[in-house]
Amino acid sequence: MFFMQSGLDIIGDIGIINFHKYYNPIRKWLLAKKTLKGNRHLKTVVEKKGQISGELRTFKTKHLAGERRKTTTHKENNCLFYMDIEKTYFSPRLSNERKIISEEVLKLAKNNSKILVMFAGVAPYPIAIAKLLRKNKIKAKIYSNELNEKANKFAEKNVRLNKVKDYITFINGNAKNIKTKEKFDIILMQRPNAEDTFLKTALRLSKKGTTIFYHGFGTKEKVLSEIKKDAKNKVGKISIRKAGDIAPFKFRWQARFRVK
Ligand SMILES: C[S@@+](CC[C@H](N)C(=O)[O-])C[C@H]1O[C@@H](n2cnc3c(N)ncnc32)[C@H](O)[C@@H]1O
Repeated sequence: MFFMQSGLDIIGDIGIINFHKYYNPIRKWLLAKKTLKGNRHLKTVVEKKGQISGELRTFKTKHLAGERRKTTTHKENNCLFYMDIEKTYFSPRLSNERKIISEEVLKLAKNNSKILVMFAGVAPYPIAIAKLLRKNKIKAKIYSNELNEKANKFAEKNVRLNKVKDYITFINGNAKNIKTKEKFDIILMQRPNAEDTFLKTALRLSKKGTTIFYHGFGTKEKVLSEIKKDAKNKVGKISIRKAGDIAPFKFRWQARFRVK
Protein backbone atom coordinates (compact mmCIF):
# COMPACT_ATOMS: atom_id res chain seq x y z
CA MET A 1 0.00 0.00 0.00
CA PHE A 2 1.45 3.43 -0.86
CA PHE A 3 0.88 6.94 0.43
CA MET A 4 1.97 10.09 -1.37
CA GLN A 5 5.75 10.37 -0.85
CA SER A 6 6.01 7.32 1.40
CA GLY A 7 5.46 3.55 1.36
CA LEU A 8 3.92 1.27 3.97
CA ASP A 9 4.84 -2.37 4.61
CA ILE A 10 2.94 -4.40 7.16
CA ILE A 11 4.59 -7.26 9.07
CA GLY A 12 2.14 -8.83 11.51
CA ASP A 13 0.64 -5.96 13.51
CA ILE A 14 3.56 -3.55 12.83
CA GLY A 15 3.33 -0.92 10.10
CA ILE A 16 6.70 0.15 8.68
CA ILE A 17 6.70 3.47 6.84
CA ASN A 18 9.51 4.25 4.44
CA PHE A 19 9.51 8.05 4.23
CA HIS A 20 11.17 9.93 1.46
CA LYS A 21 14.15 12.11 2.38
CA TYR A 22 13.32 15.55 3.88
CA TYR A 23 9.89 14.42 5.14
CA ASN A 24 8.86 16.81 7.92
CA PRO A 25 9.05 15.15 11.45
CA ILE A 26 5.61 16.47 12.46
CA ARG A 27 4.05 15.16 9.24
CA LYS A 28 5.77 11.80 9.90
CA TRP A 29 4.18 11.60 13.33
CA LEU A 30 0.75 12.69 12.00
CA LEU A 31 0.89 10.11 9.21
CA ALA A 32 1.91 7.40 11.71
CA LYS A 33 -1.09 8.25 13.94
CA LYS A 34 -3.41 8.25 10.91
CA THR A 35 -1.99 4.91 9.73
CA LEU A 36 -2.56 3.37 13.17
CA LYS A 37 -6.13 4.68 13.31
CA GLY A 38 -6.92 3.62 9.74
CA ASN A 39 -5.66 0.01 10.08
CA ARG A 40 -7.44 -1.59 13.01
CA HIS A 41 -5.18 -4.63 13.13
CA LEU A 42 -2.03 -2.47 13.51
CA LYS A 43 -0.67 -1.99 17.04
CA THR A 44 2.60 -0.24 16.22
CA VAL A 45 3.89 2.10 13.54
CA VAL A 46 7.63 2.60 13.00
CA GLU A 47 9.77 4.48 10.53
CA LYS A 48 12.24 2.53 8.39
CA LYS A 49 15.66 4.14 8.96
CA GLY A 50 18.08 3.75 6.08
CA GLN A 51 18.26 0.92 3.60
CA ILE A 52 18.41 -2.85 4.02
CA SER A 53 22.13 -3.49 4.42
CA GLY A 54 24.92 -5.87 5.37
CA GLU A 55 25.29 -9.58 4.84
CA LEU A 56 22.19 -10.28 6.94
CA ARG A 57 20.02 -7.79 4.98
CA THR A 58 18.54 -6.04 8.03
CA PHE A 59 17.42 -2.45 8.68
CA LYS A 60 16.86 -0.16 11.69
CA THR A 61 13.57 1.41 12.74
CA LYS A 62 12.36 4.34 14.86
CA HIS A 63 9.16 4.12 16.91
CA LEU A 64 6.45 6.59 15.82
CA ALA A 65 3.08 5.47 17.25
CA GLY A 66 1.37 2.72 19.25
CA GLU A 67 3.04 -0.01 21.30
CA ARG A 68 6.83 0.11 21.65
CA ARG A 69 7.92 -3.27 20.37
CA LYS A 70 9.71 -4.84 17.39
CA THR A 71 8.46 -8.42 17.65
CA THR A 72 5.35 -9.60 15.88
CA THR A 73 3.69 -12.66 14.31
CA HIS A 74 3.01 -12.40 10.59
CA LYS A 75 0.38 -14.56 8.91
CA GLU A 76 0.80 -15.53 5.26
CA ASN A 77 -0.24 -18.45 3.05
CA ASN A 78 -1.76 -20.26 6.05
CA CYS A 79 1.51 -20.04 8.00
CA LEU A 80 2.60 -18.02 11.05
CA PHE A 81 6.01 -16.37 11.31
CA TYR A 82 7.23 -14.85 14.58
CA MET A 83 10.19 -12.46 14.34
CA ASP A 84 11.88 -9.25 15.43
CA ILE A 85 11.60 -6.92 12.43
CA GLU A 86 15.09 -5.44 13.04
CA LYS A 87 16.97 -8.67 13.66
CA THR A 88 16.12 -10.60 10.53
CA TYR A 89 15.24 -10.13 6.87
CA PHE A 90 11.56 -10.60 6.06
CA SER A 91 9.64 -8.95 3.24
CA PRO A 92 5.83 -9.22 3.23
CA ARG A 93 6.01 -8.18 -0.44
CA LEU A 94 7.41 -11.62 -1.29
CA SER A 95 4.32 -13.44 0.00
CA ASN A 96 2.98 -14.19 -3.48
CA GLU A 97 6.43 -15.21 -4.72
CA ARG A 98 6.67 -17.69 -1.83
CA LYS A 99 3.22 -19.06 -2.77
CA ILE A 100 4.19 -19.48 -6.45
CA ILE A 101 7.48 -21.23 -5.67
CA SER A 102 5.94 -23.49 -2.99
CA GLU A 103 3.31 -24.61 -5.52
CA GLU A 104 6.01 -25.30 -8.15
CA VAL A 105 7.94 -27.34 -5.57
CA LEU A 106 4.76 -29.28 -4.74
CA LYS A 107 4.45 -30.29 -8.41
CA LEU A 108 8.05 -31.57 -8.46
CA ALA A 109 8.25 -33.26 -5.06
CA LYS A 110 7.72 -36.96 -4.42
CA ASN A 111 7.85 -39.09 -1.29
CA ASN A 112 11.45 -39.01 0.05
CA SER A 113 12.48 -36.05 -2.16
CA LYS A 114 15.28 -34.03 -0.60
CA ILE A 115 14.77 -30.29 -0.75
CA LEU A 116 17.37 -27.69 0.25
CA VAL A 117 16.32 -24.12 1.10
CA MET A 118 19.38 -21.84 1.20
CA PHE A 119 19.06 -18.30 2.67
CA ALA A 120 15.98 -19.37 4.62
CA GLY A 121 15.57 -16.39 7.00
CA VAL A 122 12.84 -17.12 9.57
CA ALA A 123 11.91 -20.15 7.40
CA PRO A 124 8.92 -18.91 5.34
CA TYR A 125 9.84 -21.18 2.38
CA PRO A 126 10.59 -24.37 4.34
CA ILE A 127 7.40 -23.99 6.37
CA ALA A 128 5.09 -23.07 3.45
CA ILE A 129 6.46 -26.03 1.45
CA ALA A 130 6.18 -28.43 4.40
CA LYS A 131 2.54 -27.47 4.97
CA LEU A 132 1.67 -27.89 1.28
CA LEU A 133 3.42 -31.27 1.08
CA ARG A 134 1.68 -32.51 4.22
CA LYS A 135 -1.71 -31.40 2.86
CA ASN A 136 -0.97 -33.41 -0.29
CA LYS A 137 0.28 -36.44 1.69
CA ILE A 138 3.85 -36.20 0.35
CA LYS A 139 6.56 -36.98 2.90
CA ALA A 140 9.72 -35.21 1.78
CA LYS A 141 12.78 -33.99 3.71
CA ILE A 142 13.39 -30.24 3.77
CA TYR A 143 16.80 -28.89 4.81
CA SER A 144 16.91 -25.24 5.88
CA ASN A 145 20.09 -23.11 5.80
CA GLU A 146 20.59 -19.56 7.09
CA LEU A 147 23.60 -17.57 8.36
CA ASN A 148 21.80 -15.19 10.76
CA GLU A 149 21.78 -16.84 14.21
CA LYS A 150 18.88 -14.69 15.42
CA ALA A 151 16.81 -15.60 12.37
CA ASN A 152 17.61 -19.25 13.10
CA LYS A 153 16.14 -18.99 16.60
CA PHE A 154 12.93 -17.52 15.13
CA ALA A 155 12.91 -20.19 12.41
CA GLU A 156 13.09 -22.97 15.04
CA LYS A 157 10.22 -21.37 16.91
CA ASN A 158 8.23 -20.99 13.68
CA VAL A 159 8.70 -24.64 12.81
CA ARG A 160 7.15 -25.54 16.18
CA LEU A 161 4.41 -22.90 15.79
CA ASN A 162 3.39 -24.38 12.44
CA LYS A 163 3.78 -28.02 13.61
CA VAL A 164 6.12 -29.12 10.78
CA LYS A 165 9.05 -30.36 12.89
CA ASP A 166 8.92 -33.78 11.20
CA TYR A 167 9.59 -32.20 7.77
CA ILE A 168 12.42 -29.76 8.50
CA THR A 169 16.10 -30.24 9.41
CA PHE A 170 18.30 -27.22 10.09
CA ILE A 171 21.81 -27.15 8.60
CA ASN A 172 22.64 -23.56 9.51
CA GLY A 173 25.76 -21.46 8.94
CA ASN A 174 27.38 -19.92 5.90
CA ALA A 175 25.77 -21.41 2.78
CA LYS A 176 29.21 -21.71 1.19
CA ASN A 177 30.27 -24.23 3.83
CA ILE A 178 27.15 -26.40 4.06
CA LYS A 179 28.43 -29.78 5.17
CA THR A 180 26.20 -32.69 4.24
CA LYS A 181 26.51 -35.91 2.32
CA GLU A 182 23.07 -35.36 0.77
CA LYS A 183 22.56 -34.55 -2.90
CA PHE A 184 19.29 -32.67 -3.31
CA ASP A 185 16.42 -33.09 -5.79
CA ILE A 186 15.28 -29.48 -5.45
CA ILE A 187 17.33 -26.46 -4.34
CA LEU A 188 15.88 -23.03 -3.54
CA MET A 189 18.31 -20.13 -3.55
CA GLN A 190 16.35 -16.95 -2.76
CA ARG A 191 19.69 -15.28 -2.30
CA PRO A 192 20.61 -11.82 -1.04
CA ASN A 193 21.40 -9.13 -3.60
CA ALA A 194 25.16 -9.69 -3.33
CA GLU A 195 28.01 -10.40 -5.69
CA ASP A 196 28.40 -14.10 -4.92
CA THR A 197 25.92 -16.23 -6.90
CA PHE A 198 26.49 -19.22 -4.53
CA LEU A 199 25.98 -21.43 -7.61
CA LYS A 200 29.22 -23.29 -6.92
CA THR A 201 27.74 -24.50 -3.61
CA ALA A 202 24.35 -25.31 -5.13
CA LEU A 203 26.01 -27.40 -7.85
CA ARG A 204 28.18 -29.21 -5.28
CA LEU A 205 24.97 -30.26 -3.50
CA SER A 206 23.04 -31.18 -6.64
CA LYS A 207 22.96 -34.19 -8.99
CA LYS A 208 21.81 -34.81 -12.56
CA GLY A 209 18.17 -33.67 -12.76
CA THR A 210 18.16 -31.39 -9.67
CA THR A 211 15.84 -28.41 -10.15
CA ILE A 212 17.29 -25.11 -8.95
CA PHE A 213 15.21 -22.00 -8.20
CA TYR A 214 17.50 -18.96 -8.26
CA HIS A 215 16.89 -15.27 -7.47
CA GLY A 216 19.01 -12.76 -9.38
CA PHE A 217 18.95 -8.97 -9.48
CA GLY A 218 19.27 -6.24 -12.12
CA THR A 219 18.56 -6.91 -15.77
CA LYS A 220 17.37 -10.22 -17.20
CA GLU A 221 20.51 -10.40 -19.38
CA LYS A 222 22.79 -9.93 -16.34
CA VAL A 223 21.03 -12.70 -14.41
CA LEU A 224 21.15 -15.13 -17.34
CA SER A 225 24.81 -14.41 -17.97
CA GLU A 226 25.85 -14.85 -14.29
CA ILE A 227 24.09 -18.23 -14.19
CA LYS A 228 25.77 -19.34 -17.43
CA LYS A 229 29.16 -18.10 -16.23
CA ASP A 230 29.07 -19.68 -12.74
CA ALA A 231 27.19 -22.87 -13.62
CA LYS A 232 29.22 -23.33 -16.83
CA ASN A 233 27.94 -26.27 -18.87
CA LYS A 234 25.97 -27.78 -15.98
CA VAL A 235 22.64 -26.02 -16.63
CA GLY A 236 19.89 -26.93 -19.05
CA LYS A 237 17.25 -24.57 -20.40
CA ILE A 238 16.67 -21.61 -18.05
CA SER A 239 13.14 -20.28 -17.59
CA ILE A 240 13.08 -16.80 -16.10
CA ARG A 241 10.41 -14.35 -14.94
CA LYS A 242 10.22 -11.04 -13.07
CA ALA A 243 9.63 -11.52 -9.33
CA GLY A 244 9.14 -7.95 -8.10
CA ASP A 245 11.14 -4.75 -8.06
CA ILE A 246 13.97 -3.86 -5.68
CA ALA A 247 14.27 -0.16 -6.63
CA PRO A 248 12.89 2.07 -9.38
CA PHE A 249 13.67 0.25 -12.68
CA LYS A 250 15.61 -2.52 -10.86
CA PHE A 251 14.11 -6.00 -10.68
CA ARG A 252 14.35 -9.32 -8.91
CA TRP A 253 14.28 -12.29 -11.34
CA GLN A 254 13.28 -15.85 -10.62
CA ALA A 255 15.22 -18.31 -12.77
CA ARG A 256 14.49 -22.03 -12.79
CA PHE A 257 16.71 -24.67 -14.41
CA ARG A 258 17.73 -28.30 -14.19
CA VAL A 259 21.23 -29.56 -13.62
CA LYS A 260 22.66 -31.58 -16.53
C1 LIG B 1 16.79 -12.14 0.57
S1 LIG B 1 16.89 -12.83 2.19
C2 LIG B 1 15.76 -14.20 2.01
C3 LIG B 1 15.14 -14.61 3.31
C4 LIG B 1 13.98 -15.61 3.20
N1 LIG B 1 14.18 -16.59 2.15
C5 LIG B 1 12.65 -14.91 3.04
O1 LIG B 1 11.97 -15.08 2.01
O2 LIG B 1 12.25 -14.19 3.97
C6 LIG B 1 18.46 -13.52 2.16
C7 LIG B 1 18.86 -14.24 3.45
O3 LIG B 1 20.16 -14.80 3.23
C8 LIG B 1 20.88 -14.76 4.47
N2 LIG B 1 22.31 -14.88 4.12
C9 LIG B 1 23.16 -13.93 3.66
N3 LIG B 1 24.38 -14.44 3.40
C10 LIG B 1 24.30 -15.77 3.70
C11 LIG B 1 25.23 -16.84 3.64
N4 LIG B 1 26.49 -16.65 3.23
N5 LIG B 1 24.81 -18.07 4.01
C12 LIG B 1 23.54 -18.30 4.43
N6 LIG B 1 22.61 -17.31 4.52
C13 LIG B 1 22.98 -16.06 4.16
C14 LIG B 1 20.47 -13.43 5.08
O4 LIG B 1 20.70 -13.41 6.46
C15 LIG B 1 18.97 -13.38 4.69
O5 LIG B 1 18.18 -13.93 5.71
